[in-house]
Amino acid sequence: MKVTIVGAGAVGATTADNLIRRNVAEELVLLDIKEGVAEGKAQDLAQSAALLGFESKILGVTNDYAATANSTVAVITSGIPRKPGMTREELIGTNAAIVKSVAENLLKYSPDIIFVVVSNPMDTMTYLALKATGVPRNRIIGMGGTLDSARFKYQLSLKLNASPADLNALVIGGHGDTTMIPLIKHATWNSVPVSQLLTEEEQAEIVQKTMVGGATLTALIGTSAWYAPGASSAAVVESIVRNQNKLFTASVYLNGEFGESDINLGVPVLINKHGWEKIIPLKLSTSEQEAFHKSAAAVRAMNQVLTE
Ligand code: LAC
Repeated sequence: MKVTIVGAGAVGATTADNLIRRNVAEELVLLDIKEGVAEGKAQDLAQSAALLGFESKILGVTNDYAATANSTVAVITSGIPRKPGMTREELIGTNAAIVKSVAENLLKYSPDIIFVVVSNPMDTMTYLALKATGVPRNRIIGMGGTLDSARFKYQLSLKLNASPADLNALVIGGHGDTTMIPLIKHATWNSVPVSQLLTEEEQAEIVQKTMVGGATLTALIGTSAWYAPGASSAAVVESIVRNQNKLFTASVYLNGEFGESDINLGVPVLINKHGWEKIIPLKLSTSEQEAFHKSAAAVRAMNQVLTE
């Protein structure tokens, strides 16, 4: 199994680090447009093999797509990250051209490749990758919901003093500060509904903190986060490569599901060797449905920019 990561910045390199530590891929290719960066990070990662005891072969290349040939999965992290005060949506001008060209180049050398898209604005970049490559929709997965759900569990764990691994919680909708929908009424702590344990105010606070999770980190660090984004991307890749059938929220192309069409939005999906195999239906309340359609409208407006 071969995994390619495009973009050897902090998110790409952290994804690689997570993958090699778990021996997910026999071969891992790190590709970046900046001369020497991917080569350097690949060597740095490979030099941890003696200490961490992994066997993956790691190769770093500068813009050489031939080196990615016959990859099972590619993680696209290319483009610019946001700076403090910026929204993910403001990145579209720069990142759209990059993501389009990256997706097309990858497909040339790996016709059966599955794409995991991380670049922002993530839902629109995932939609763009689908339109640019024309591959079946199950082979394009936007990573945002996995990350947002992990951040949701973090916020819940703080309030409940619970182990994050004991929490079940999903964020659906867009991967934007105002478009994501943390489904607090569906969240459970080992099957116990958290709504029975937390006041309405506490629930609202958790939802709010989850929504601005990425922006909070950007303000603190000065650039976009990478540890949880890298861990999220690696978890999705692992479910594909090891055919784990894990359920994640991911941005996928909807064709009537959840009442939306011709749009990529975060919904619960089963992820395995086919990419995302099926969308898991979820009974939403009226207000959750309204929030989902509002989120879709915002993402659709962003998608329009692609054709302007
Ligand atoms: C974040 C970026 C990866 O939310 O979108 O940290």
